Amino acid sequence: MQYQDPSFAAALVAWQKEHGRHDLPWQNTRDAYRVWLSEIMLQQTQVSAVLGYYARFLQRFPTLASLAAAPVEDVMAQWAGLGYYTRARNLHKCAQRVVAEYGGEFPSDPALLAELPGIGRSTAAAIAAFSAGRRAAIMDGNVKRVFARVFGIDTYPGERKTEQAMWARAEALAPAEGIEAYTQGLMDMGATLCTRSSPSCERCPMQARCVAFATGRTAELPVRKPKKATPEKSAHMLLLVDRGQVLLEQRPANGIWGGLLSLPELAGHAMHAEAPGDAAVAAAVQPFGTMESLERLLPVVHIFTHYKLHIHPLMVTLASRAAMAGEERYVWLGAAAIPAAALPAPVKKLLLDLLGERGQARMF
Ligand code: ADE
Repeated sequence: MQYQDPSFAAALVAWQKEHGRHDLPWQNTRDAYRVWLSEIMLQQTQVSAVLGYYARFLQRFPTLASLAAAPVEDVMAQWAGLGYYTRARNLHKCAQRVVAEYGGEFPSDPALLAELPGIGRSTAAAIAAFSAGRRAAIMDGNVKRVFARVFGIDTYPGERKTEQAMWARAEALAPAEGIEAYTQGLMDMGATLCTRSSPSCERCPMQARCVAFATGRTAELPVRKPKKATPEKSAHMLLLVDRGQVLLEQRPANGIWGGLLSLPELAGHAMHAEAPGDAAVAAAVQPFGTMESLERLLPVVHIFTHYKLHIHPLMVTLASRAAMAGEERYVWLGAAAIPAAALPAPVKKLLLDLLGERGQARMF
């Protein structure tokens, strides 16, 4: 096996024995019920948050049989506050399955454990290692961080190929002897030394073999989730000017720029980039008056958190203004009112830049 290296496990086990955690309430037992319960509670949850729940849960449900026989509401009540409640429902189902299918004794084969509700591949391995000394590999967020740094893996661990390669390493590195200390050592290293920010490399048993340490990349590894490309949208906006005023429209209360005054947008062109033709612009202008001239201004880019908006201003002067009776969401504003108006930042900037460039007389 290409990834085999007994010195990795030897260094980790020696460190765990000297510096790891030995007195957690689910340690120093091979009772599969207690080991299983702790591993489920510790999924996505820190040790400090689990301690109290673990003790109270065992008081209320001292055996697997008592848990399996309890109403699910009682289980949920004990779990309340710990979060990720699917875990509690699966815990109850799992207890009932182990009673029904295994006579109340958890199997020790990780492959069988992984078929039970709420037990994934890594949790199955942890239970098999801690409760039966079975050689099995774990792989959680902490182990991924340790592996990414020690082996200099610079692809995203959430990617299927990277995760598969990490599992292959984990399987190859797990020792036949001392799997309990080895597994606990991986967890302890990830939680106490090889932390996400400012890891304690000076105390780390892997320092001499750590690629990230040797190359000064502990802050870069593991690599973060690659960002998706920002979506881009286009909005074609009417910049209608007439007798020293510009037409603004109050936007609906919900949605982007809710309640602000903005330039009217051409319907049907908001999501795609192609420009509306002159006839489409004339049709959009028609409710407000008759178009005299059209000038397509350079687009303005505005960056939102989740997308990039390209604003294409269509500057139109009117030959005559329509009456627009009852259209209360439209207002005509003079240049002097623009600085204080409730406009979206990019629209205000567009109007003020235009005023600055062209002067009030030429623009409005
Ligand atoms: N996280 C998951 N399993 C754990 C364990 N057995 N000890 C400490 N932290 C853990």
